[in-house]
Amino acid sequence: MADDPKIIDGKAFAANLRSKIATALSDLKKAKGLVPGLAVVLVGEDPASQVYVRNKAKQTVEVGMLSFEHRLPEDASEEEVLNLVEQLNKDERVHGILVQLPLPDQIDANKVIGTIDPAKDVDGFHIINAGLLATGQDALVPCTPVSCVMLAKDRLGDLSGVNAVVVGRSNIVGKPVAQLLLKENCTVTIAHSRTKDLPGLCRTADLLIAAVGRPEMIKGDWIKPGACVIDVGINRIETDEGKTRLVGDVAFKEAYEKVGAITPVPGGVGPMTIACLLFNTVRAACASNNIDVPEILKS
Ligand code: GUN
Repeated sequence: MADDPKIIDGKAFAANLRSKIATALSDLKKAKGLVPGLAVVLVGEDPASQVYVRNKAKQTVEVGMLSFEHRLPEDASEEEVLNLVEQLNKDERVHGILVQLPLPDQIDANKVIGTIDPAKDVDGFHIINAGLLATGQDALVPCTPVSCVMLAKDRLGDLSGVNAVVVGRSNIVGKPVAQLLLKENCTVTIAHSRTKDLPGLCRTADLLIAAVGRPEMIKGDWIKPGACVIDVGINRIETDEGKTRLVGDVAFKEAYEKVGAITPVPGGVGPMTIACLLFNTVRAACASNNIDVPEILKS
């Protein structure tokens, strides 16, 4: 599949980005003595979150950054989490803070995110960063939207004037990806569960971003021939044999026949998100030290 020109290989793109980050980090260390640090906070035992956090820590160290992992029990109080975030805000070795979501019910996620120093908010979830992005200013931008735009630009080149349809309006993906696409001069429509004639709207898209979290909802005949499709969905479904497998928000086999290019699930947007998190941590570390982001990461 890696050699299929219709497939956007996120795994390879992410590996290449990590290698550029590793080069940039080695230069930063030599030239400025700067070693960025990323702190990840995990509350509770959610199995998927544990896998994410393990992968994040592994890749952080592999590219040459410091990794700080903080695990709190499932019954940790909101105050404990807030105190930990405040401690990380003050820690000069820490340039990026990520609190793994979802959090247990007794903890208000918005309050926790709001306590993270916006300059260290490498998830880009703080309202300061959301507001900066919405007003077209320099911000730390959520990792999944950045991943989508990097992959789309790599495939389509300049996105000026491209008709983009974003299906999904979440704060984490739909809204920020729409903002980023506007910044790239796309004509952007955000669709959601109340959108009238969603198939017809999708058929107008040169660039279709699927971020609804519904397995295989977007069908092959919703796709404009030759369109570029970025599938953000990661849904685990049961197969007829009683096993499980991962599928996206797009019915891949049908869509494949119509598209110019498409991200597979798994192996598309998913592998890109941690690479973008590392990228955001380098950006945060450079900004807090008044250093330009290394040239190799600018393109
Ligand atoms: N849980 C699943 N994905 C993410 C993410 O990108 N950031 C955070 N903080 N939690 C998550």
